[in-house]
Amino acid sequence: MEEVEKEKEDELLSSLPKIKAWQMGYMYKYQGFWYPPHVIHALATCQEHFEAQNTDTIVATFPKAGTTWMKALSFAVLTRAQHSPSQSPLLSINPHDLVPYLELKLYKNKQIPDLSALSSSPRIFAVHVPYQSLPESVKNSACKIVYLGRNPLDTFVSFWHFLNKSAGKGGGETLPLEECFDDFCQGVVACGPFFDHVLGYWKQSLERPDKVLFLTYEDLKEDPSMQLKRLAEFLGCPFSVEEERVGVIQEITKLCSFNVLKDMEHNKTGKSPIANFDNTDFFRRGVVGDWINFLTPEMGERLSNIMEQKLAGSGLGF
Ligand code: A3P
Repeated sequence: MEEVEKEKEDELLSSLPKIKAWQMGYMYKYQGFWYPPHVIHALATCQEHFEAQNTDTIVATFPKAGTTWMKALSFAVLTRAQHSPSQSPLLSINPHDLVPYLELKLYKNKQIPDLSALSSSPRIFAVHVPYQSLPESVKNSACKIVYLGRNPLDTFVSFWHFLNKSAGKGGGETLPLEECFDDFCQGVVACGPFFDHVLGYWKQSLERPDKVLFLTYEDLKEDPSMQLKRLAEFLGCPFSVEEERVGVIQEITKLCSFNVLKDMEHNKTGKSPIANFDNTDFFRRGVVGDWINFLTPEMGERLSNIMEQKLAGSGLGF
């Protein structure tokens, strides 16, 4: 049986376009987007087997858009009736363990997880895959999708640092910034092309505002309380007047803030459930506009021009 499964997988991969990229060895283009091979196997399994429930929440992001933050905020908002911010599981458990990825964790290695243990609502999952590749049950059920977008320049710089962490652990050299940047601009990056990813969710958020909420890292930084209110309303659990009066929104904002999460012992020391990363690797600087410290003005202009072209007429901007 295993042999047959393996052959099927090999057939799947060999039917796909492939390219050598960054430190990931080969990436393959599956349903219009680039992934390392193990993600394709997990995604295909997830697409076949995951059954969304109407009460599920899916946190969707491009890698390095602020997923850790969005997972923490969504978890805190959705579970606040069970756990007040001062007793939150976030105080002892990493957001990636509380809100597992479908394709990077639960369906990893083609395993089919028993989700019955999670059946008490609300279930919260995360994905990095584009809207187009979500399991049909996610698209067709009443479950909610929260997407967090981020400026591509900061996303790229964050991704480059993150992959360097992994490369460094394997004794590898720093990844060449210019080459990586060129690949990113051409759409060759895990889960890319970046703009197709963002636009897929953006369009859905316009067409089905009850289904997809589109937030941005930059707006969250600027006015976390307002964005948190939008999030809670969208998820069907708006903050009550009393909650607002006693400062629950501010408590959640603080609990999930960069400095507070980063300094929690378990986030400083624990091993991440994702590849060979540590929890601490998911916290770097957490600011808007850090790209300016790493990219030349020409690089900035190149990606900004691409952004202008790709997002033209969409109503979306970063
Ligand atoms: P930087 O590398 O720009 O600092 P992801 O969680 O999708 O992997 O994204 C990681 C990015 O989000 C990193 O960005 C990280 O520092 C930042 N980040 C992590 N937790 C955050 C938080 N609570 N608030 C703001 N940014 C956060």
